[in-house]
Amino acid sequence: MIDGFRCASCGAFVGLDTFAPWRCPNENGDRRHVLLRMEAADIGGSRVVADGDDPNPFVRFRRHMAWYSFAVAHGMSDADTVQLVRDTNNGFRTTPVARSSSLSDELGFVATGGVWVKDETANVGGSQKARHLMSILLHLRVAETLGLAPWDRSVRPSLAISSCGNAAIAAATLARAAAWPIEVFIPEWASGTVVDMLDGLGANINRCPRRSDDPPGDPTVLRFREAVAAGAIPFSVQGPENALCLDGGRTFGWELGESLTNVGIDDVRALFVQVGGGAFAASVSRGVRETGVRAPLFAVQTEGCAPLARAWASACTDDAMARRWSDHMWAWESEPRSLADGILDDETYDWVADAIELKATTGRVIVARETNVIRAADIGPTVSGIPVSPTGTAGLAGLLECRSEIADDDRVVLAFSGVKRD
Ligand SMILES: Cc1ncc(COP(=O)(O)O)c(C=O)c1O
Ligand SMILES: [Zn+2]
Repeated sequence: MIDGFRCASCGAFVGLDTFAPWRCPNENGDRRHVLLRMEAADIGGSRVVADGDDPNPFVRFRRHMAWYSFAVAHGMSDADTVQLVRDTNNGFRTTPVARSSSLSDELGFVATGGVWVKDETANVGGSQKARHLMSILLHLRVAETLGLAPWDRSVRPSLAISSCGNAAIAAATLARAAAWPIEVFIPEWASGTVVDMLDGLGANINRCPRRSDDPPGDPTVLRFREAVAAGAIPFSVQGPENALCLDGGRTFGWELGESLTNVGIDDVRALFVQVGGGAFAASVSRGVRETGVRAPLFAVQTEGCAPLARAWASACTDDAMARRWSDHMWAWESEPRSLADGILDDETYDWVADAIELKATTGRVIVARETNVIRAADIGPTVSGIPVSPTGTAGLAGLLECRSEIADDDRVVLAFSGVKRD
């Protein structure tokens, strides 16, 4: 079988040589389709291993990404793909993974077990979000370079993103480096550091109050979709808006698998990942799985907003879950609230890809009580010494929540992403 994307909802196939493979061709505006990269096992592929030792993951793992297959299918040489990565953004570096002895001690683990942390706070834009977006940007740059994009470089359509935090900063950072115009759709109430940063990065900021005739859902997402319908490029960190974001997010998982393998670890008890829109957990888990490391996904939400926990409770026994999308996923009814304010998406847009990983890794969803979110936000940075935000320590809140079920000599992994900004 040939490699490509398959829609989890309707089964449509989209080849890797397709320009702008953002959404399923059968999607009709409801965003209840999602193109997922086919599994290696289904196409006779093998484990993901690095190609060389370049510190930039978009170089080292390039052959495994969709933008690369698109480039090569249209005649770009391997050397030119490497140069394209360097020209687009050469700031990506493999982020460190290490056992935190202080956190392990604090949580009562013994020397043979403990807490391994992947510190993503110094990644481009201060979080994992730039990984998701870089694979979209590389696809666009390939298309432009090879004359496959239906626009002239001097009149590029704008990039568009809806976000109030790390994703917007990552998007504006990449857009600025690529000299690409960007529209950012942010909540009416957004203020402070993030808006100042977006301003400084030259993003065009659109505040999005809820309108009286708006359907349910986040108004920033509604305005973003209108911009995309009018011709903007979905520079999104949500798989149903742009499938390529899930592709590039796997670099985090590949690096993690590589780092663990390098120190002789090929399985861990749990991989805790905080879940907002759900793209991060899906990509990380799949990336690790593709390296051959066994790591059950422990997807963490907060008690103030847990639509994935609700979806998983019913979808875990539904073999056709994506076809019955709205039976499992709908917007969180009450006002989402938590100190971990970066994961308050009222819908887990990537719940299907998350549920696939939960099934494949025999994982689970943990709902952290707010007391644990607050404790994690306190001890995360102070004990580990990593300047991580309350959103980035929400995975640790999940570990606190289920610590009694984990043995003192078990190994667990946390994703400390999202630098503390104030
Ligand atoms: C630091 C950090 N960690 C995790 C997440 C969750 O990622 P996702 O929205 O893809 O679930 C976000 C963003 O929402 C984030 O900013
Ligand atoms: Zn479809």
